[in-house]
Amino acid sequence: MRIKSIIKGTGSCLPEKAVTNKDMEALVDTTDEWIVQRTGIHQRHIAGDHETTSSLAINAASRALEASGLTADQIDGVIVATTTPDLTFPSVAVHVQAALGIPAGMAFDVQAVCTGFVYALSTAHSFIQSGQAKNVIVIGAETMSRILDWEDRTTCVLFGDGAGAVVLGVNEDETSQRGILSTHLYADGAHKDILCTSGGVSKTKSAGVIEMQGREVFKHAVTLMHDVVDEALKANDMTGADLDWLVPHQANVRIISATADKLGMPMEKVVLTVGDHGNTSAASIPLALDVAVRDGRVKQDQMVLIEALGGGLTWGAALLKF
Ligand code: UT7
Repeated sequence: MRIKSIIKGTGSCLPEKAVTNKDMEALVDTTDEWIVQRTGIHQRHIAGDHETTSSLAINAASRALEASGLTADQIDGVIVATTTPDLTFPSVAVHVQAALGIPAGMAFDVQAVCTGFVYALSTAHSFIQSGQAKNVIVIGAETMSRILDWEDRTTCVLFGDGAGAVVLGVNEDETSQRGILSTHLYADGAHKDILCTSGGVSKTKSAGVIEMQGREVFKHAVTLMHDVVDEALKANDMTGADLDWLVPHQANVRIISATADKLGMPMEKVVLTVGDHGNTSAASIPLALDVAVRDGRVKQDQMVLIEALGGGLTWGAALLKF
């Protein structure tokens, strides 16, 4: 019998400070109208000096653990998707492990930028399926504000900070169909220069700032999201009509609605948080999922599709019966 991995609990954490589009107007030559029309973003949360990727990740993970009903000693893995770790090393994952009192087991970070959570979830799923782990905390956590050029209006209005987490574990109920049905991961390094940072540890001994050819990334995002959601549905003999929820990466409402259109899904079936959170990179999907679980929209046994695209380019999707 094939081991199925299910989401046993979700959690999230946003920095205290929210920055509105009006606030951004005071910083760069932009308008609330432009930001809303082009992206759907109204505000984003920005980490204060006392907040880090780890502190957000720890809060999100402890809420997910509480929701799962498990205790720290039942967790045997921590995987954090992040592009903005507190330190070059050790990983954010070991910070979480120490803070939550999780016993020795695997703990590491995954770097696939905005697709990071889909990569991390797929990795945890593979560990569980192969019998190497039973309960893994999978986190997407970012402080994108720390790698923004606050004078570049083409990027600084887009991103925000936050963290989301899930506890992924073995579905012990053999009669239940719940679990991850399939994951689909891709990268194409030929496009590595259209979304990147201006520096990094080995090249400049600094983190650098985000540089993006927005229009180019947008074009790829629409096409590649179409292709990967199609692949996920075909792999499971399903159509868009079989889905209860689309929980997409939250970069731009126009990209999200193009994907929903392709799936024939009305926007009421799409979990949309980009307006309140901005683009939180690897944190955006687990943040959105936690919002929709806690407000009662996403329920057990429903069919959920997640998808994302990010720097690399990387992209991917996962289909799960929640
Ligand atoms: O999460 C990782 C993946 N990232 C994405 O998926 C992002 C994909 N890209 C996008 O979402 C969109 O391309 C953006 C939101 C980044 C930009 O929207 P756009 O409709 O593609 O705008 P554009 O880059 O073509 O720029 C249109 C105009 C330009 O002015 P000109 O050259 O037409 O005179 C920009 O200089 O808008 C100008 N502009 C701004 N104006 C006011 C760019 N940024 C701003 C701004 N405020 N913040």
